[in-house]
Amino acid sequence: MRETLNYRVPVEYGPMKRLVILISGRGSNLEAILGRIRAQAWPIDVVQVISNQSQAQGLAVAESFGVACQVLSPKSFPDRDAYDGALAKIIQGFAPDLVVLAGFMRILSPAFCQAFAGRLINIHPSLLPAFKGLESHAQALESGVGFHGCTVHSVTPELDHGPILAQAVVPVFAHDSVETLAQRVLEMEHQLYPTAIAGILSGRYVLEQGRWVDTGVSEFGGDFPRWHVHPSL
Ligand code: GRF
Repeated sequence: MRETLNYRVPVEYGPMKRLVILISGRGSNLEAILGRIRAQAWPIDVVQVISNQSQAQGLAVAESFGVACQVLSPKSFPDRDAYDGALAKIIQGFAPDLVVLAGFMRILSPAFCQAFAGRLINIHPSLLPAFKGLESHAQALESGVGFHGCTVHSVTPELDHGPILAQAVVPVFAHDSVETLAQRVLEMEHQLYPTAIAGILSGRYVLEQGRWVDTGVSEFGGDFPRWHVHPSL
């Protein structure tokens, strides 16, 4: 499936690009995304934030930016396919140009990934393809790497495996704990994710046969670097 993935934001949708963001918890990436859209005045309309957790702190973040949000709890559905089907239907109703997972802590079914193939992205706290899955910072410390980071990638049915759009690298210090390393990576996530999203929605980056390609042309002003480096490096 990976090699057949293609996507470019359709121009006929009009000047405002439509974004749906899925969250489960804290919402610090959501806050960074909403803050950058506002600060840069990018023509991006976050049409809906959806959480699978009613207690997600990110819901208050969405509200503080005046963005509409809703909770879709898995508890009301018999199984994953039923939940994912309902979620897909709700999202499709918003006709998004891009669907962004920002700390959405659920595995998505192949049918869901297929429904949004090419226009579904995630941020993972490691330099993929290293350290997939949970506890990526502990995995990094355990392995003894000198560099760690985060990756924005397309979502495909295989976990943390889709085409890579953007990465940020941070150093790993001898005295690091999971917490100090996670904090250093998170600061870079907050830079990387808004830039990557605007890069796609502006038409600068397009997905061609399973690879993100730089067109060099953007509908929005500004630059959208894909590769970020921590200031200490
Ligand atoms: C981030 O570390 C992100 O990389 C991972 O989940 C975490 C979400 O944090 N996918 P937040 O809810 O955005 O603060």
